[in-house]
Amino acid sequence: MKTIKQIVFVLVIAAVMQACQPAGGEFPGSEYMPDMAHPISYEANAYDAYKYHTWDEQSVMTRKELTGRMHPVKGTIPRGYAGVYFASGDEAQQAVMDNMHGVGSNNAQAIPVNGKVPYYYGNTPEERLRATAEIIANPFPITKSGLESGKELYNIYCGLCHGEKGDGLGYLVRDADPAKGDPGGKYPAAPANLVNEDFSVASNGRFYHAIMYGLNVMGSYADKLSYEERWQVVHYIRSLQAVKNGAKYDESANTLNPAFGTPMKLVAKKVTAAAAPAPVTDSAAPAGPASH
Ligand code: HEC
Repeated sequence: MKTIKQIVFVLVIAAVMQACQPAGGEFPGSEYMPDMAHPISYEANAYDAYKYHTWDEQSVMTRKELTGRMHPVKGTIPRGYAGVYFASGDEAQQAVMDNMHGVGSNNAQAIPVNGKVPYYYGNTPEERLRATAEIIANPFPITKSGLESGKELYNIYCGLCHGEKGDGLGYLVRDADPAKGDPGGKYPAAPANLVNEDFSVASNGRFYHAIMYGLNVMGSYADKLSYEERWQVVHYIRSLQAVKNGAKYDESANTLNPAFGTPMKLVAKKVTAAAAPAPVTDSAAPAGPASH
């Protein structure tokens, strides 16, 4: 009896070992609990990845439709986009902003509060030019609160060198004042005059890129400012340029250069107009038989 038990035990072990043989040659190998090895949730986009994925047989959609590329869910924002233009009206606008701050309740990809939004430009002179050529508009609308925040951040992080007016005459490069015993600033390089002609017509990419990587003696501010804060600073620099050029750049108007930033007032108007249904009147009804 004992030997029979032993023989059966050895046979069972042998069978198990046989079953565990690795795939090779004509033998595809066998899997224990294949559903776990091929989770539908992970392989959802792989059409026909696994023959046991018959989960959609009862579905109203075919497997091909289910595994194909899909449109983003309505109201969501692709990663890396601020998406103000997806909104329609003030409330929706607020919802978009909430999403961007990570407090939205739908499944939009929020821009994380730590500001880690991918930046697809490298730190080389060629990439600087590419960013300058490609990044034109500010993804955030010009708002009062944004400009206020931009001002505060600019004065903390940039004004020291570039000056509170953006003219490049910050504290670090101030003139000597012997009367007060002030030896003046001794910064090794002249900070750019951000409100001169050159910078007033430069695209937003030039500013954003400078914040991301700095330039020569100017260091990067990517780790000091979040994604939204960087754009607030760019807005504020534009408003300084507007002051210099006698133009307006605020939440109600942008006469500096409409391509660089959209005032909140216009964003709200634009999206409401786009979302509003065309007016229907009785006289607009077709007189004859409807032709489609
Ligand atoms: C410690 C001083 C200093 C601080 C602080 C500083 N910068 Fe600069 N910045 C410079 C200097 C110097 C240059 C000129 C670099 C050069 O041309 O070699 C410069 C250049 C620039 C340029 C021009 C880049 C180009 O394409 O020519 C921009 C835009 C700019 N800074 C924006 C900013 C912003 C925005 C901040 C704040 C987030 C800031 N800087 C903070 C010193 C500073």
